[in-house]
Amino acid sequence: MKAAYITQPGPPHSIQWGELDDPIPGATGILIRIGAVSINPIDTYIRSGMISMAIPSPFIVGCDFAGTVEAIGSEVTRFQIGDRVWGSNQGLLGRQGTFAERIAVDESFAYPTPPSQTDESLAALALVSITAHLGLVARANLEEGETLFVNGGAGGVGSAVIQMGKAMGAKVIASAGSEDRAELCRQFGADLAFNYNTRNLAEVLKSSGGGGIDVYWETSRVPDFQGAIGALAENGRMVVMAGRDAQPTFPVGPFYVKGCRLVGFAMFKASASAQQTSAQQIHQWLQAGALRPHIGRRFPLSQSAKAHQLQEDNTLNGAGTLCGKIVLQPE
Ligand SMILES: NC(=O)c1ccc[n+]([C@@H]2O[C@H](COP(=O)([O-])OP(=O)(O)OC[C@H]3O[C@@H](n4cnc5c(N)ncnc54)[C@H](OP(=O)(O)O)[C@@H]3O)[C@@H](O)[C@H]2O)c1
Repeated sequence: MKAAYITQPGPPHSIQWGELDDPIPGATGILIRIGAVSINPIDTYIRSGMISMAIPSPFIVGCDFAGTVEAIGSEVTRFQIGDRVWGSNQGLLGRQGTFAERIAVDESFAYPTPPSQTDESLAALALVSITAHLGLVARANLEEGETLFVNGGAGGVGSAVIQMGKAMGAKVIASAGSEDRAELCRQFGADLAFNYNTRNLAEVLKSSGGGGIDVYWETSRVPDFQGAIGALAENGRMVVMAGRDAQPTFPVGPFYVKGCRLVGFAMFKASASAQQTSAQQIHQWLQAGALRPHIGRRFPLSQSAKAHQLQEDNTLNGAGTLCGKIVLQPE
């Protein structure tokens, strides 16, 4: 089969597109013919070696997948040949990645694709939608009627957080890096959206006459604790999930006096059963039309190196040339 792989961590152009042996699923594994995959910022950290994680050699890049089951292991109970499935959490913690014509995945990390959905949609939603669900439900305990702020609402995670926040009955405010991207946040359901380059949250809250923020979701790699804690309501929660090297100033006083909570998490460390719970809720929202992917660019799978370059330019170098997910499909 053809696959996009590296033999050691390196820059985007170190990704080769070539022949590798087809994977063989273990007893609880399923063999999937890939229909679509998508890139996440973490793919660039692992490929470059920025995050030091054990990887097999050769290492096929990528976490997210959607496709069709072609073979099953002897102990598989949840899937049959021909089922359409999606999932994430591959290419991590020593597992092989997904940017290949065929992959073998433990069935615990695969979910049935709702019949109305394309592989492209589920690949684009995979990691970001599970992240958004884990963060809002298990970590921040967002309640109906609360106010949710998404700093960076037009990105992959941010657009999922906006939609889930609305589906959970919250009032949603979002920021984005331009007027066009703020409009996109409104299209994803934000009640109010603004350009973070020209306004800040404190001004927006003052002029809208609303109260404080119950859940503040930070997507930026440089969390603004000063602005966030100032905006949090009594018992407010702040979610951080990016910025491994960030060391921002933290205003302790207003944080504890308001009884706030700071929650951090990395989705790939959530158990398979926790991620299955997220997938079930995601299916319900998909079927209700409450959730859709935000696809920014499409590439053939053979151009994985080019797609990684685009993701890295934006995630690490602030190029501003990508808005939404990069999806790749075999030709
Ligand atoms: N911990 C976890 O489990 C987990 C899971 C998924 C992702 N992540 C991390 O979360 C981050 C976002 O992931 P993603 O997939 O959503 O990436 P993405 O699609 O590239 O989105 C990045 C977002 O950051 C926003 N942003 C950049 N600079 C900002 C600033 N100064 N103020 C406010 N917003 C800013 C961007 O807004 P504009 O485009 O509007 O400028 C965009 O919405 C990445 O660092 C990723 O590694 C962590």
